[in-house]
Amino acid sequence: MASVYHVTLFISLLITTSTLLNSPCSASASPRKLALVKQQPLILKYHNGQLLKGNITVSLIWYGKFSPTQRSIIVDFLQSLNSPTTPPPSAASWWQTTSSYKTGPSTLVVANQVLDQDYSLGKSLATSQIISLASGTNKLSSVNVVLTAADVAVEGFCMSRCGTHASVRGKFAYAWVGNSASQCPGQCAWPFHQPPYGPQTAPLVAPNGDVGVDGMVINLAAVLAGTVTNPFDGGYFQGPATAPLEAVTACTGIFGSGSYPGYAGAVLVDRSTGGSYNANGVRGRKFLLPAMWDPKSSTCKTLV
Ligand SMILES: *[C@@H]1O[C@H](CO)[C@@H](O)[C@H](O)[C@H]1NC(C)=O
Repeated sequence: MASVYHVTLFISLLITTSTLLNSPCSASASPRKLALVKQQPLILKYHNGQLLKGNITVSLIWYGKFSPTQRSIIVDFLQSLNSPTTPPPSAASWWQTTSSYKTGPSTLVVANQVLDQDYSLGKSLATSQIISLASGTNKLSSVNVVLTAADVAVEGFCMSRCGTHASVRGKFAYAWVGNSASQCPGQCAWPFHQPPYGPQTAPLVAPNGDVGVDGMVINLAAVLAGTVTNPFDGGYFQGPATAPLEAVTACTGIFGSGSYPGYAGAVLVDRSTGGSYNANGVRGRKFLLPAMWDPKSSTCKTLV
């Protein structure tokens, strides 16, 4: 029996080695082993500050040209977070993990939408301009979200970020997410586009047929989870407050079970469109949502 075992082992080593040699990027094969290692507990420390709980009014500021279809993908996503009747795995059950952060549900309610289709501040925005766009009607328990079109450059966009959330005077939470389709889809719309470097796997088909906007859904999911669980830098995060790892950013790159660097994990595929997804939403929508840190298990939780 022992020799049989050795032969089997030898064959599997050969297979592993040839996979490594045949792979155009050998780095993609080695991290595979990480998936077999038990996940270490990940701790996001609570810093005793205020979180956003209860009904939270979300206002959307559309900056630049978005088609009605693009806007409906995003609005449907936001409404899906608050729609318990969609079949599992649902976007609402994904969002529900935020209620395990001390304590109780954060319910996002989409209120007004502002269209700025004529680029009132030009096509290259500094952070201060994002803040002024977001500063329309600041109230506690509200989040103003600036969404920039594909032809708008934003300070830090594609260099260090795909979206942000922050607060004005430590009180009013706001967020920004950009459409990366023409500027850096490999960074900000992965896994719907080939990454610019690192381990390569074939891109997934965007579930709503729009690489840029389906990528925005992923980043919006990340910044909104960060906004409600760490709105004023005193919530849940790991690392320095200036560069925190938050609810979703602590789980970067994970969308389904068995993920490893460069591979999003096993997700569902819509037979009719070929789109990859892991969450059902309102009006038959499907979304691919990133893993979120679950305070109950201290792990990055995926829907599938
Ligand atoms: C949130 O809004 C709903 C609908 O208007 C209302 O029924 C509910 O009581 C509100 N919840 C809180 C915590 O204010």
